[in-house]
Amino acid sequence: MSVATDFWRRKYERDARKYWDTFYKQHGENFFKDRHWLAREWPEVFPLAAERMSSEHVSETSRDRVEDRVGSAPTYVVPVDRPRAFLEVGCGVGNTVFPIVELEPEATVYCCDFSARAIDLVKQRASTLAEKDRGRVKAFVCDATCESLLDNVPAGSIDVATLVFALSAMSRERMSFCLRNLSTVMRDGQIGTICVRDYAAGDLAQERFEGKSAGNQKISENFYVRSDGTRAYYFTREDLSALFADEGMELRNVHVQEAVITNRAEANDMSRRWIQATFASPKAAATNFEPPPPVELPQRWTPPVKSS
Ligand SMILES: C[S@@+](CC[C@H](N)C(=O)[O-])C[C@H]1O[C@@H](n2cnc3c(N)ncnc32)[C@H](O)[C@@H]1O
Repeated sequence: MSVATDFWRRKYERDARKYWDTFYKQHGENFFKDRHWLAREWPEVFPLAAERMSSEHVSETSRDRVEDRVGSAPTYVVPVDRPRAFLEVGCGVGNTVFPIVELEPEATVYCCDFSARAIDLVKQRASTLAEKDRGRVKAFVCDATCESLLDNVPAGSIDVATLVFALSAMSRERMSFCLRNLSTVMRDGQIGTICVRDYAAGDLAQERFEGKSAGNQKISENFYVRSDGTRAYYFTREDLSALFADEGMELRNVHVQEAVITNRAEANDMSRRWIQATFASPKAAATNFEPPPPVELPQRWTPPVKSS
C-alpha cells in the first residue's frame, strides 16, 4: 500500500464519525426507508408478526435466495415469560428501531449510533410516539467499535441485537471490536440472537466501485470509500461467518439474497446482492471491553519533486 493510500485509509477511519454526521446533516431522516421487512426476513425472531404476514400473500417474484446454509448453533427460542430487550447497533435515524417498536409492543429497544445528529433525530421521532411507547426507545451516542456499550446497556440483558447495514460501514479490523463490545451486553448461553443484513460481495455497487477510475475508491479487499467519505464493505458468506465465529458467536443461518431491480428512468436492470444471517450469542459473554488504540495519522504524503 502506498503512503498516500495509508494516509487516507487512516483518515477515513479516524474521521468516520464526522463523515456520517455530515451525511445526516445533509439528508436528515430522508435517506433510508423504514425496514418493514424484519418479520418477513427473520420469522424465527418475530413469529407472531411473521404468521400474520404470511396470510397477506407478500409477492416475492424478483427476489431469490442463493447460497443458503444452516449453521450448528441451536435454533432461537422466543422467551414467553418476559418482554424482550433489543439493541440496534448503528441505528442511524431509527429505520430499524421504529419497526421493532411496532412489532414488539412490550419490548425495550436500545439503539446507538456514533452520529449525534442521527441520535437526535431518533429522539425527536421517539417523542412523537404514544406515551406508553416513548420510554421504550433508549437511544444513545456511541462508537460501537471503541466506546463500551456497558455505559448505557445493562450487562447480559439483550435478547436480540440487530446490525442492519452497520458492520459494512466499519473497517474489517474494527468489526471484531464491535462484536466483542456487543458480547458484553448480550444474554449468554446462546439464548440471545444477532441478526445481520448487509451488502454481499458481487453487488452491482461493488462492481461499480471496482470499475471507477481504476479502483481509486478501494481502501482494501472488498472495502471502498464513497464520495461523501462514508465506507462500504462487501461480505462473502465465509467471511461473515468467520468474523462472528472468532468472537464466539456461532452461525444459525446465512444466505445471500439477490434481486434484480429495474430502473425505468435509465431503462436498465441492476443486480443487487445482500447477505443475511443470524448468529447465537456467545456461550460465555465477555465481561469487559478493551477498546482498540486510537488511529494515528502518518505524516501527510507529499508527491516527490520531479527532477528537471
Ligand atoms: C447504512 S446506515 C444504517 C442505519 C440503520 N441501521 C438502518 O437500518 O437504517 C449505517 C449507520 O452505521 C453508523 N455507524 C457506522 N460506524 C459506526 C460505529 N463505529 N459505531 C456506531 N455507529 C456506526 C452510521 O452512522 C450509520 O448511521
